[in-house]
Amino acid sequence: MQAAEALRAAGADVVDFGAGEPDFDTPDNIKLAAQEAMRAGRTKYTSTGGIRELPRSIINFYKTQFGVEYQPNEVMGTSGGKQAIFNAVVTLLNPGDEALIPKPYWVTFPEIVVFAGAKPVYIETEETGFVLTAEQVERAITPNSKLLILNSPSNPSGRVLPTAEFRKIMELAADRGLYVISDECYLRFVYPPAEIFSAATLPDELRSRLCIAGSFSKTYAMTGWRVGYALAPAEWTKQMLKVQGHCTSNPNSIAQYAAIEALTGPQESVAAMLAEYTKRRAWLLGELVNIPGIKCSEPEGAFYAFPDVRGCLTGTLKTSADFAKHLLEEEQTVVTDGAAFGAEGFVRMSYATSMAQLQEGVKRIRRFAEKYA
Ligand SMILES: Cc1ncc(COP(=O)(O)O)c(C=O)c1O
Repeated sequence: MQAAEALRAAGADVVDFGAGEPDFDTPDNIKLAAQEAMRAGRTKYTSTGGIRELPRSIINFYKTQFGVEYQPNEVMGTSGGKQAIFNAVVTLLNPGDEALIPKPYWVTFPEIVVFAGAKPVYIETEETGFVLTAEQVERAITPNSKLLILNSPSNPSGRVLPTAEFRKIMELAADRGLYVISDECYLRFVYPPAEIFSAATLPDELRSRLCIAGSFSKTYAMTGWRVGYALAPAEWTKQMLKVQGHCTSNPNSIAQYAAIEALTGPQESVAAMLAEYTKRRAWLLGELVNIPGIKCSEPEGAFYAFPDVRGCLTGTLKTSADFAKHLLEEEQTVVTDGAAFGAEGFVRMSYATSMAQLQEGVKRIRRFAEKYA
């Protein structure tokens, strides 16, 4: 990112596939709700998990969307999905504990586990195209395993866990007494025939050690507002509220009003964004499979493609980091090295960028790959 910034500052025409956030603006109805909250003086501390309407609108959303019941003491607002994950991990893990993390993983997962003094134990999933299976989880369990972190749709791979496998994994976790964090920040971005599946819909006996981390950031193009939530059993939520109460307190009060409007107001903007991602995704995948040295399996969710670039690592380029570095230097195009996510040989491309940028970037990547493959 720094190298790309330096190039941009020097006037280079940089194409950026690095962004982990929507390129869309926050919808107007959400901004207006924030304006109104400010005007009405909703600018003070709130209770740690948010004003009552925030958990209530989250509960209502899960009820209408998925037909599931959560109680107010099982829901809390957080400053982004990231804080929900942080709260859940630090209230659970102690030194000596292990957290199972499937590869490729969002970079923050192992960092928080290490922060809690525990040990990340990675699960290899390349043999199944980066789609985790219950069998892979089973093989990785040790007597110290306490937590499993799931993320479907996945950042960086875009893969979506099939519903039946998700259920099997949760049954295994329940059987072995494992806690599970299901990071569902990209839940609303799933492309058919893949199906949206929230762990919230599992039966109670599979939810008793489950924390769902959710976010407004991606769904409503609200990354800078910093609002997310955790859904977890009451006792776990109580502990998470204590942690949050003594570090950041409530999520931003104005952003809470914006988030409530996001969930309860018109949803057309989500559909419009999804339609645009769908178009870009189809175009990008169609192009990537025809570039020499590059293979790309189909991501079913989020807004990332995760191509295998090992066919280009034949001489000067030895690693996916070299690929990303040279692509930036030679073609002023940013992709993220897959090694950062535990998947050497792959790069992450975000298609949360305009069609014009996608077309220009793909042209450059093709020229680059033809040189090295
Ligand atoms: C997999 C995943 N989880 C959680 C988050 C956290 O998002 P936020 O804290 O903005 O809600 C991100 C953001 O990039 C993400 O990619």
